Amino acid sequence: MTQTNFTPRVFSGIQPSGGLTLGNYLGAIKRFVDMQGPDFETVYCMVDLHAISVWQNPADLAHNTRELCAGFIAAGIDPTKSILINQSQVPEHAQLGWVFNCVARMGWMQRMTQFKDKAGKNAQNVSLGLFGYPALMAADILIYHATHVPVGEDQKQHLELTRDIAAKFNHDYGVDFFPMTEPVIEGAATRVMSLRDGTKKMSKSDPSDASRINMTDDADTIARKIRKAKTDPDALPSEAKGLESRPESRNLVNIYAALSDQTVDQVLTEVGGKQFGEFKPMLAELAVSKLGPISAEMARLMAEPDEIDRILTAGSLRAREITAPILRKTYDIVGMVAPV
Ligand code: AMP
Ligand code: TRP
Repeated sequence: MTQTNFTPRVFSGIQPSGGLTLGNYLGAIKRFVDMQGPDFETVYCMVDLHAISVWQNPADLAHNTRELCAGFIAAGIDPTKSILINQSQVPEHAQLGWVFNCVARMGWMQRMTQFKDKAGKNAQNVSLGLFGYPALMAADILIYHATHVPVGEDQKQHLELTRDIAAKFNHDYGVDFFPMTEPVIEGAATRVMSLRDGTKKMSKSDPSDASRINMTDDADTIARKIRKAKTDPDALPSEAKGLESRPESRNLVNIYAALSDQTVDQVLTEVGGKQFGEFKPMLAELAVSKLGPISAEMARLMAEPDEIDRILTAGSLRAREITAPILRKTYDIVGMVAPV
């Protein structure tokens, strides 16, 4: 089965578990904005239920959820074009999540590398929610019958699991009910790396603030972090091939390409032969010019939290027009007696 029988619909989510980084922006939010338009219905979600799979201070969780919503809007997600929600206001996510806990197999879940990375040596002490996380993520997507999911490279395995869950449900119940969702992992920056170590992902949880650019960093901070970013002593090559064994350099060029909506080869045509002493200020200027207006708009929106709350409430009402019938149909398929 393909997704052609389904309404083209995009779903994606981000955890409100801390500030946004340039990785979230280039790997996810900027691409969410690009998919907004006549080709798709778009639903974007702050996954607060996922966030509590590790401890969240309640006041911080509420703040981070509103700040993430402000980030989405400031980056160009228009609440009249896209449905913007926080996951906990649309109860069908968690309800379908339970059904999928009963579809997914232990062996599948035990293979999830994100769980293994996050649990580390502490596997007996992490929450059951952290283990079940990918089944809830499958429910987030499939409760909308979403056909396309834009994410960064790190989410690929979770999207394969989503397809496995959909296929097993369809097979076990003899239906063609859930679509085979397509991951959309595209562009120059599907994996933005740490500025201090080109082999590690840029992450909000890295202890070193110098390793990442935060969406709320001011112009001086952005410029300083880029100036100090690790590189190698060679000049930039004029073709992408020349970056193959130079992870830090490749990362900075990828960031430049993604921020300027060019391919890596287009960037290298312009900057090939330059030293980093010359390229870094160009990158800093570009980053400040793209991120500055977004962080200013975020701050403006955060001054009106009631307006953000209204947007989320309105989003959840629109979302439930889609999710409630899909949950009911799922329950019917499974054999749950409906109210009369
Ligand atoms: P998270 O912050 O883990 O909830 O991630 C939210 C979205 O941002 C997901 O689609 C991730 O794949 C994406 N993302 C997070 N960090 C990066 C990164 N360093 N490079 C590219 N995409 C990222
Ligand atoms: N697991 C994703 C992350 O950590 C966040 C997420 C939750 C998500 N549900 C989703 C992403 C559904 C895409 C679709 O980045």
